[in-house]
Amino acid sequence: MTALSDLNREILACRDCGLAKTRTRVVPGEGAENATIMFIGEAPGFYEDQQGRPFVGPAGKFLEELLKSINLEREKVFIGNVIKCRPPGNRDPLPQEIDACRKWLDRQIEIISPKAIVTLGRYSMARFFQGASIGKIHGTAQKVDGKLCFAMYHPAAALHQQSLRKTLEADILKLPGILAETQSPPPEPTKAEPEPRQLSMF
Ligand code: URA
Repeated sequence: MTALSDLNREILACRDCGLAKTRTRVVPGEGAENATIMFIGEAPGFYEDQQGRPFVGPAGKFLEELLKSINLEREKVFIGNVIKCRPPGNRDPLPQEIDACRKWLDRQIEIISPKAIVTLGRYSMARFFQGASIGKIHGTAQKVDGKLCFAMYHPAAALHQQSLRKTLEADILKLPGILAETQSPPPEPTKAEPEPRQLSMF
């Protein structure tokens, strides 16, 4: 048993908010325990609720295409959500549901300890970039509590609005460069020029 699978068992048994009564399955999230990058969406939708797995519907298919465009496979990253159970009819999560679920994402981040967190959509963004607007910060990164957080629109938004597809495709291409920058060692201090040798004639 790993720390993440132990945590999954706790999440699967959670009844801390009203969604426990309406969900079909809990969707804790999935991926590598040593993932360098975590992708955090909003909440499970219809397909996720049926299968107990994150991003398995049309938005998930597009997310996989985005990952492929930067040579990532979904097995190599961790994919999760701000809340772990589907709100009925895919309505927006309520503040009390987000609060009740907060501890699970906090513990997932602690165990996985990723180098970067990619937020997908407004609810995930709000968890890491307080008071920000997705229209302004998408495609940019900030250090939050020592972690690099990169904001993106939700892949589902691109299914409704074609122009956002291009935005998401362009934004994800910035991620490898941003990651490489934060991982490169700080530049060596420049060595002081040696004193010119005094040439003595005598
Ligand atoms: N949308 C999300 O935010 N999460 C999922 O898992 C699926 C769709």
